[in-house]
Amino acid sequence: MEGKPVRESQSEYSELALPNDANALGNVLGGKVMHLVDLAGALAALRHARCPVVTASIDYMNFLHPVHIGQLIILRSSVNRVFHTSMEVGVKVWVEDLQTGDRQHTSSAYLTFVAVNREGKHCPLPPVIPETSEEKRRYQEALHRREYRLELRRRAKS
Ligand SMILES: CC(C)(COP(=O)(O)OP(=O)(O)OC[C@H]1O[C@@H](n2cnc3c(N)ncnc32)[C@H](O)[C@@H]1OP(=O)(O)O)[C@@H](O)C(=O)NCCC(=O)NCCS
Repeated sequence: MEGKPVRESQSEYSELALPNDANALGNVLGGKVMHLVDLAGALAALRHARCPVVTASIDYMNFLHPVHIGQLIILRSSVNRVFHTSMEVGVKVWVEDLQTGDRQHTSSAYLTFVAVNREGKHCPLPPVIPETSEEKRRYQEALHRREYRLELRRRAKS
């Protein structure tokens, strides 16, 4: 299968933080940010796979700063590495204060998506081609993360 460069599926997704998603302190709920991370990750995964994908795992997430209502949540996602039927997608989240233009990095996450056909069978994916030095670093590191998460999966199943 012919490979596709990372840049072809890199995606950006943004959403204004609205009161409906606030906790008692008036900041956005962590679960809302997790939902957006899943969506942003799926965008890059779908653009790479061009077939349905399911979320197999999300490694973990830190929330470094609160997101206030009225701020813009910006998410960027890219495919770090394709294995066989699965791929690791990295998502980075920023929050932008629309009054000042200041941006802060609030979270990052690694997600694994698996490509499936309409019958629910896993499908092989085209390889991803890292071009920049940062893409190459992410590509290398993704292999170690995969080993770690598959070990966690083995333990969770036993
Ligand atoms: C994720 C899922 C497709 C894995 O199916 P499975 O038959 O148990 O998986 P397999 O062992 O055959 O693995 C298929 C691929 O997924 C990868 N994978 C499976 N579970 C994984 C996990 N927890 N983390 C990372 N990768 C995982 C495997 O490494 C394999 O990748 P490869 O083909 O690139 O080597 C299946 O468990 C599923 O459909 N889960 C529900 C997904 C879903 O609905 N998500 C939305 C949230 S509810």
